[in-house]
Amino acid sequence: MEFKDVVKNRRSVRDYETGKEVTDEQLKELFDIVKMSPSGYNLQPWEFIVVRNPENKKRLRACAYDQAHVEEASATIIVLGTTDPSPKAEELAADRIKKGTMDDTKKKEFLATVESFSKDKNYAKIWTNRSTSLAAMTLMHAAKSMGLSTCPMEGFKADCIKEEFGIPEKYEVVMLITLGYESKQQPERPMRFGYEDIVHQEKF
Ligand SMILES: Cc1cc2nc3c(=O)[nH]c(=O)nc-3n(C[C@H](O)[C@H](O)[C@H](O)COP(=O)(O)O)c2cc1C
Repeated sequence: MEFKDVVKNRRSVRDYETGKEVTDEQLKELFDIVKMSPSGYNLQPWEFIVVRNPENKKRLRACAYDQAHVEEASATIIVLGTTDPSPKAEELAADRIKKGTMDDTKKKEFLATVESFSKDKNYAKIWTNRSTSLAAMTLMHAAKSMGLSTCPMEGFKADCIKEEFGIPEKYEVVMLITLGYESKQQPERPMRFGYEDIVHQEKF
């Protein structure tokens, strides 16, 4: 499928064929595309919990205002973003030094910057949500290109998910994404505002 068709045909799907599995091979293919997403300083703050076990999906549904598609999809993915990417910075700097795109001075600046914004908890939350949301969008487009459907979700209680799934404090629960095979033709797509409504030229 051409990229523009992937974008045009992706829908938020809430009706899934229950009992149809998403395999480990499909997940590997999916996340090999997701990892190519851009991120601030290339710090790749995203991590994912794939929930396929029926009991766990039930527990996740309870944290998501009882939305049935959380349980009925083949998998629901908890999309996480760390607010402390500093442990990754050293390895990323070493890679860039090897590739000739960073020197020792720039490395020191880079490590200091990452450390300082990781300490600013309010900023780090916004920062991780930005980059991780881009990875979530890649996931939804990649899934569509593989013949799978998704639904992004913000209707959940983050504290409940953190407690139920053992997620450390420093992670933001950015989104849930259901993943599976749609069981019904989708209703007509809700309207979109057009070019004239959303695009400003040169100034607001
Ligand atoms: C950040 C975000 C949160 C959303 N939360 C939910 C949700 O909790 N439950 C749900 O069923 N759909 C949710 N949606 C899906 C939207 O309702 C859907 O994207 C929108 O109506 C447009 O439909 P479409 O994606 O099929 O084009 C969410 C979408 C986004 C981007």
